[in-house]
Amino acid sequence: MLLPTHVVVHAAGIVAGALIAARCRRTAAGVAAAAPSPPLAAAAPATPFDGCDARALLGLPTTSLPTPCLVLDLDGLEANIAAMAARCRAAGVAWRPHCKAIRSPALARLFVEAGAVGVTCAKVSQAAALVCGGGVADVLVANEVVGGDKIAALVALARRATVCVAVDDEQNLCELSAAAVAAAGSGGSGGDGGSGGDGAPPVLLDVVIDLDIGMGRCGVPAGDHATIIRLCALAQRLPGVGWRGLMGYDGHAQTGTAEALAETDRGAAALCAARCAVEAALGEGSVRVVTGAGSGNYIRAVAARGGVNEVQGGGGVLNCQVYRSSLEAQGAPNAAALTLVAQVVSVASQASAARAVADAGFKSGFPLFGGLPKVISHPGVTVTALNAEHAILQLAPGTPHLALGERLVMVPFYSDATAVLHRRFFGVRGGRVERVFDMSASIGMLH
Ligand SMILES: Cc1ncc(COP(=O)(O)O)c(C=O)c1O
Repeated sequence: MLLPTHVVVHAAGIVAGALIAARCRRTAAGVAAAAPSPPLAAAAPATPFDGCDARALLGLPTTSLPTPCLVLDLDGLEANIAAMAARCRAAGVAWRPHCKAIRSPALARLFVEAGAVGVTCAKVSQAAALVCGGGVADVLVANEVVGGDKIAALVALARRATVCVAVDDEQNLCELSAAAVAAAGSGGSGGDGGSGGDGAPPVLLDVVIDLDIGMGRCGVPAGDHATIIRLCALAQRLPGVGWRGLMGYDGHAQTGTAEALAETDRGAAALCAARCAVEAALGEGSVRVVTGAGSGNYIRAVAARGGVNEVQGGGGVLNCQVYRSSLEAQGAPNAAALTLVAQVVSVASQASAARAVADAGFKSGFPLFGGLPKVISHPGVTVTALNAEHAILQLAPGTPHLALGERLVMVPFYSDATAVLHRRFFGVRGGRVERVFDMSASIGMLH
């Protein structure tokens, strides 16, 4: 599979230094990066499938797919994307879905085609994969970017697309500004490229001030209005950067429980108070964007007046078990979309212990937070444990025996943790493979 490998090579190179723009230009022109590693599959195919292009499977019945694999029901996926876009539109908020779960630049483009203002990701390498590999024009890195190399890469990316980054520190903000000024001076702006006027350097990079609204991760504590105002005023003043507003993400409030929904309300109130304090100091309407909320609480979050006006939730379109329950708790169930398909590889203990084994272990769907995949194709069959490459299955009394090679369809527990070790989603419709979505290794994997 050559295409995603090229993306990987480029994104890794991008993070390593400020050569991003030149490298991406070469990618766009279809020229190979300098000295890429040979694709692993070509060097040593592990199975006949690993050595061939997954597109050879297009048009074939779903049962031709190699196991274990991730399958996306395209009707369900499209309905879920349309529903999320419509809910945000109806609430009068912008939609900027996070791409950490989908990991696919082509899927990110579906978000944008459905009306997303842009997309969200966590790292510069991910933003680079989305822009350079997916042609996405507007990206929020909803995380702090620290260190000269990464800031240089971010700023270089901002010459190709509209890029915004989260900031919670004065020195970091000054470094971003200095890098943006230097980059703008060395060849003009990308992004929205607004000129600073009065001979000021153009705005190259947008920033949002990141608030901790209870998650205990990054961000200025939301109640520390003095620091928040100081950072906002600095972002407003500094050259090279454009201040968009505030960010507050509440990852601890995504489960759909009553407590999580109450915590969502508290987060919205904290954002609202911070926004009021900033606008009292810096001017009515100065906070243009308040970005945050995930798939697990966005409906509740946008219902809370004065909270977010831009929603970062995205992975909910896959409707894994985690998202499904939190969306149902908010009264907005999504359609079935993502499944993990495995095949039965051992029935040796079926007669004696009602146990069978399938070929999807925790490397196919990591049980983050302790959740196991749920079998939906065979009532009475339950996954009781995951080894690295094996799912241990238990058959309830009276359940028809499984046959060797029989295919099982499961809903992963948490799609982020499931997608991360797969190379692609197979999009199916009407029982046939219609699309292959390559995932970028840069979105999810490490160096
Ligand atoms: C900053 C940020 N925004 C939004 C999200 C929500 O994304 P999703 O809806 O895909 O869970 C996350 C999830 O980790 C996040 O870290």
